[in-house]
Amino acid sequence: MRSIYADGLANIAGANDLATLEAVRVRFLGRKADLVLLLRSIPELPVEERPEVGRVGNVVRKYLESAVEARHAELETEELVLGLERERLDVTLPGRASPLGHLHLVMQTQREIEDIFTGMGYQIAEGPEIETEYYNFEALNTPADHPARSLHDTFFIEGEVLLRTHTSPVQVRVMEKQAPPVRIICPGRAYRRDSDATHTPMFHQVEGLVVDERITLADLKGTLETFVRAMFGADRRVRLRPHYFPFTEPSVEVDVSCMMCDGDGCRLCKRSGWLEILGAGMVDPDVFRFVNYDPERYTGFAFGMGIERIAMLKHGVNDLRLFFENDLRFLRQF
Ligand code: PHE
Repeated sequence: MRSIYADGLANIAGANDLATLEAVRVRFLGRKADLVLLLRSIPELPVEERPEVGRVGNVVRKYLESAVEARHAELETEELVLGLERERLDVTLPGRASPLGHLHLVMQTQREIEDIFTGMGYQIAEGPEIETEYYNFEALNTPADHPARSLHDTFFIEGEVLLRTHTSPVQVRVMEKQAPPVRIICPGRAYRRDSDATHTPMFHQVEGLVVDERITLADLKGTLETFVRAMFGADRRVRLRPHYFPFTEPSVEVDVSCMMCDGDGCRLCKRSGWLEILGAGMVDPDVFRFVNYDPERYTGFAFGMGIERIAMLKHGVNDLRLFFENDLRFLRQF
């Protein structure tokens, strides 16, 4: 009994991991352990030895059990510490950077244009891309027999319903709802049946409209000069050329002095020194009649520019289709 006890304690102390300790437990306290077999054989012992063997045996068993328990707790703590050490993380290491996208060049340019005009006190207005002939043409003084209505340019959906060919219908929608003064820009998509290096079936425009008493062509020119200098640089000049739009009178096309050669003539401006950037004019009194504005009292100017065209000129992009092919090698440059 004494040797079982001594032997058991030594083995328990010597167990250096939980698996070994369990094997030791089974060996000294399991169903087939010497001590357990001895205790079980007590009924076969002479009567006078039974109490002593039972008492000592049970004490030895209890002590061995608590020794196993104590060692078990020790080893468990040790293994926990080792495990934590093994899985140690340096929480101060920088994380893996997830790639950050950015706005498409068209949207960047749109925001830039919006910022310039809201800085001058303009409000931003929007209208539907699916329009009716009335708003897209009729109320813009473009009667049914006008060439701009040709099937060739317009995506018709059904009957009177079409995809707007410009953002100008938003002018009409705003004036219908609001009395002068009006000072708005309308960014958005427009659609035309056209496709080459400078035309895509879908493109973006920003429309501008100002209506109040005593608005003149000089206000239009001053406004566009301010815009052009903010967008393309302080020494840009603006030139107005006579043009025609059904909804403005007089109408102009607006050129900016070439940013590549400063007006000397180069490949970008085709040796002319000027680049066309937008169409504009004084709102035709006939348009005012459609929205019940008094043309004797109010005058106004309007302009419309292609956002992609502005972006192409500003960033030297030579093919409009690049904007819509979603080649990241192109888009990431901006
Ligand atoms: N809507 C015209 C176009 O798309 C541009 C324009 C707008 C011209 C406003 C004059 C006034 O071509």
